[in-house]
Amino acid sequence: MDLPVSGKKALSLALGLSLFTSGLAVAAEFDGKSQIKLRQGFMQTQKRQLVKLTAVAKGEAEFNDAAVQRAANMRNLALIIPDVFEVPSGLDQFEGTRALPKIWQQPDEVKKRIRRLRAETARLVEVALEKDPEALAQQLKRVGGACKNCHDNFRKPLKKP
Ligand code: HEC
Repeated sequence: MDLPVSGKKALSLALGLSLFTSGLAVAAEFDGKSQIKLRQGFMQTQKRQLVKLTAVAKGEAEFNDAAVQRAANMRNLALIIPDVFEVPSGLDQFEGTRALPKIWQQPDEVKKRIRRLRAETARLVEVALEKDPEALAQQLKRVGGACKNCHDNFRKPLKKP
């Protein structure tokens, strides 16, 4: 095919794009192992935001716009949670996870916990906008309580040393 240069460019762009999107399609077909990695990394991301905000609440870090953004990150992460439980990948099927199988057997119970975290993190954003460390500390406790409420029910406890 004898294409003008711009046509060739367009063709290679189209080919590149289709290769890229087919790569995405493969990546989307998640197996259990990669789902576990995604989930644990995601949970660590939530924790990182919480730890950084706790430093602000304690007065160890500045209460600036980045802190408000972190509160918004927590709210947004709470919206993503269902994605990390999409593929059944509990410890009845895989090693290296602490997800109890019942998290896939009791969807309504799980939804309740996610709703609670969403409500508390939405409130966290409102509180963060006030830039009052004391109020932030109070609300972070509620957020932490919402995390714990799911962990206590759906995560295998760590063995005591
Ligand atoms: C809907 C239930 C649920 C909610 C809500 C939840 N978690 Fe988790 N979390 C889990 C489960 C289940 C695991 C175990 C994941 C695994 O090992 O596959 C986990 C694991 C973790 C881990 C350990 C990750 C690792 O490296 O193995 C951290 C840290 C964590 N969660 C932090 C949080 C924080 C912080 C919040 C709140 C902002 C939160 N989680 C909210 C269910 C939840």
